[in-house]
Amino acid sequence: MTIKVVAISGSIRSGSYNSGLLRAAIEVAKECLQGIEVEFVEISHLPMLNTDLEGPGTFPHDVEAFRKKILEADSILFASPEYNYSVSAPLKNAIDWAGRPPNVWGDKAAAIVSAGAGFGGGRSHYHLRQIGIYIDLHFINKPEFFLNVFQPPAKFDNDGNLTDAATKEKLKEVLLALQAFSLRLKESLYDVLVKAPLSIVTWATLLGAISDQNSLLLTALAALKGFSGPFLG
Ligand SMILES: Cc1cc2nc3c(=O)[nH]c(=O)nc-3n(C[C@H](O)[C@H](O)[C@H](O)COP(=O)(O)O)c2cc1C
Repeated sequence: MTIKVVAISGSIRSGSYNSGLLRAAIEVAKECLQGIEVEFVEISHLPMLNTDLEGPGTFPHDVEAFRKKILEADSILFASPEYNYSVSAPLKNAIDWAGRPPNVWGDKAAAIVSAGAGFGGGRSHYHLRQIGIYIDLHFINKPEFFLNVFQPPAKFDNDGNLTDAATKEKLKEVLLALQAFSLRLKESLYDVLVKAPLSIVTWATLLGAISDQNSLLLTALAALKGFSGPFLG
């Protein structure tokens, strides 16, 4: 089974390190992993959220297309820069659009990576995880991935492409954890939707058969009692 991952960068600037992480993740998935596909989905063209732009059950064209991508994905890989100790505005905007009813994020597995100064964007992770509670995203807990871009040696080339082998290896570990968790979620959904109803039918059939046998037994006893009333009392 192939897990479809949508990759979203919270930075929409051209030389973004966070987008660079996602391009590297796509490359790692293609070259080193099986059963996982990662697709970069743009958020820069989404309008600012304004519910006046919604019709009855409809959204602006670009928003509809974005929501469809999320709906069709099994899981989400966020590259989340830290803006003022939180997630970036473009990322929050995209999250809000896809969370409008009907919420299309629900029950998907998700992972966060980030690049930046100092803590490497780490503080944005905790706000993103909190947002995930409301929209029913299920984040992997580990491995955590924060990359301090400015700590030598250099991790990116001048075009914002990741060049550091150790960082690529960490990305691979995140993808593997995301894949495993996505499969577990899919299996539990299968259990709930298919296996549980099937076993209910099986049990119901069995109980039905037993109760049929019981009523057969009772009928036989009643008949016997009726026939031999004076003897059985
Ligand atoms: C509006 C804004 C707010 C920022 N706030 C923080 C911050 O709170 N903490 C931090 O470590 N870096 C902060 N930064 C720096 C960015 O995290 C850093 O530039 C990062 O590389 C941006 O990601 P990108 O390269 O993918 O665009 C901020 C940058 C911007 C533009």
